[in-house]
Parts: sequence; C-alpha cells; structure tokens
Amino acid sequence: MAETKLSSVKDKRWSLEGMTALVTGGTRDIGYAIVEELAEFGAAVHICSRNEDDINKCLEEWKSKGFNVTGSVCDILSHEQRKTLIENVSSIFHGKLNILVNNAAKPSMKKIIDNSDEDITIYAATKGAVNQFTKNLALEWAKDNIRANAVAPGPVKTELLGSVMDASEGSRAINAASYITGQVIAVDGGYTA
Ligand SMILES: NC(=O)c1ccc[n+]([C@@H]2O[C@H](COP(=O)([O-])OP(=O)(O)OC[C@H]3O[C@@H](n4cnc5c(N)ncnc54)[C@H](OP(=O)(O)O)[C@@H]3O)[C@@H](O)[C@H]2O)c1
Repeated sequence: MAETKLSSVKDKRWSLEGMTALVTGGTRDIGYAIVEELAEFGAAVHICSRNEDDINKCLEEWKSKGFNVTGSVCDILSHEQRKTLIENVSSIFHGKLNILVNNAAKPSMKKIIDNSDEDITIYAATKGAVNQFTKNLALEWAKDNIRANAVAPGPVKTELLGSVMDASEGSRAINAASYITGQVIAVDGGYTA
C-alpha cells in the first residue's frame, strides 16, 4: 500500500496535466522532440516557427496522437511578431503560461573569421549570453516562484532519435525538479567532462 502511494506521488511529479507550455521552433528536431515530451506528459503546448506549412503538418501529426498542441507563425527575430505570439499564447492559455522553452535558433558551425557583418551576433556568443541570462532570470524571478534553467545539448545528430530524445528528456527532468534554478545543464553524453 505504502509503495502504491509513493509511486503515485512519483507519477504525479512527472505529470504535466493542466500545465501550459510555449516551445519556440517546435517543428523540427530538438524542439519537435520537446513538444512531444511535454504533450505526452499532459501539457497543452503552443509552438511557433517561420514556416506555416511545417506547423500545420506537425499539428496534424500531434492531433492524430491525441496531443493538445496549437501553433502559429512567428519569426522570433521580429519584435512585432514576438509581441503577437505572446498575445496569441495569452489568449489561448487564458493568461497562464507554466513553461517557456526558448529553443529556436539557427545553429551555425562557421569559424569566427567566416562570419559576415550580418552574422556578427555570433552563434557561440549568443549561447554564452543565454547561459548568463539564465542565471540573471533565476535570481531576479525566484521571488515570483519562477525557475530558469538552460539545457546545453552536445552535438546532436538530429536524425538520431536517441540523442534528440535525451535533449528533450533533460528539459523534462529540469521541469519536474523543484529545487533546480539558475543552472546550465549539459546533456551531452559526457562530452564536456
Ligand atoms: N543540433 C545540435 O547539435 C545542437 C547542439 C547544441 C545546441 N543546439 C540548440 O538546440 C536548439 C535546436 O537545435 P536543432 O538542431 O533542433 O535546430 P533545427 O533543426 O535547425 O530546428 C530549429 C527550429 O527553430 C525554428 N526556427 C529557426 N529560426 C527561427 C526563427 N527566427 N523564428 C522562429 N523559429 C525559428 C525552425 O523552423 P523554421 O526554420 O521553419 O523557422 C525549427 O523549427 C537550438 O537552440 C540549437 O542552438 C543544437
């Protein structure tokens, strides 16, 4: 009996029933896997990307799996479109957002010298900034009971389902834990060790 109670408490810890989530860039690879992970555990999820056809295709797939996922077009580089996205999300989720996964980015493997003027927010620098910003958010928002963490995947061969799933499971584990905030968590198979 005690065991049953314990396992029920543990099951609830992983459950995302009644939670809402926004995943930017949810139409492919790591973002797609994160959406599946969150939806499978019961969250209502909203996604965005720049390609409407891709969004609609994904929404059809998720509908057939019984997942509660909505989506809208947003280029996160546009201030106006970000504003519209948040208005949409606020309306769909009635002002309640539990989880935000800032996943969308344009991975770049360029050498520094090969970057153009337009690229000058260089990929590695933005990732460093995200790590620091995560700590700032965690400290500033702890008083409001909001946690902020970053998942730092190692090189993920996105065609390999296993490594993509690991990256998304890392996100879920952080979400389930209540005492982890301001952390940058490497999900990289020991690459950085
Ligand atoms: N794959 C890796 O090995 C690896 C390693 C470390 C970290 N990461 C990080 O993990 C995240 C996902 O990587 P991934 O490999 O899964 O990327 P990906 O396959 O290129 O997918 C990126 C997703 O973001 C969307 N997106 C890109 N630019 C966007 C924009 N300006 N506005 C809105 N949506 C946008 C894409 O859709 P559209 O293009 O249609 O907009 C797509 O849904 C990124 O933050 C990346 O830096 C990846």
